[in-house]
Amino acid sequence: MNIRRLHSNEIPPMELLLLADPSKEIVEEYIQRGQCFVLEHEGDVIGVYVLLPTRPGTIELVNVAVDERVQGKGFGKQLVKHAIQNAKVQGYQTIEIGTGNSSVSQLALYQKCGFRMTGIDKDFFIRHYEEEIYENGIQVVDMIRLSQDL
Ligand code: COA
Repeated sequence: MNIRRLHSNEIPPMELLLLADPSKEIVEEYIQRGQCFVLEHEGDVIGVYVLLPTRPGTIELVNVAVDERVQGKGFGKQLVKHAIQNAKVQGYQTIEIGTGNSSVSQLALYQKCGFRMTGIDKDFFIRHYEEEIYENGIQVVDMIRLSQDL
């Protein structure tokens, strides 16, 4: 298992990125400006995360995803922990992440990795996404913001 930065001449793993974010347009926009890292296991790319500098000293984990066939085996936690360490090594003071109000397991994962809730961006998903999204039987409407000092 190896986590490495995607080279600029490599194609980002769009199928994985779309697991975390249903909008191809939004993903393509932040992938240009962000740092994309992939997790390889036995020669296959099975995970991805994207870090995007947002404000001075702050970087945001804008996408994290694991291939559905190997979810629940600890890879997601390894990716989030790698992203935190990576941001720290790069000298950032704060790492942020946002997730939907309905993303129960993601909220568990991020808090297990040391993130604390800082705010709610009300109606974020209504404003930024055309289609209605449901998860765990709950409509995704608000963005829960989480942050961690490095
Ligand atoms: N309550 C408590 N803990 C929970 C939980 C719940 N309901 N659901 C998950 N967890 C915990 C797990 O127990 C585990 O913690 P542990 O190691 O302390 O037991 C941790 O969350 C994550 O487990 P892991 O196996 O590393 O997760 P994963 O490999 O399945 O990856 C995602 C997690 C979110 C990256 C993956 O499910 C995924 O790609 N989902 C689709 C894309 C997505 O939603 N991305 C995030 C967008 S905000």
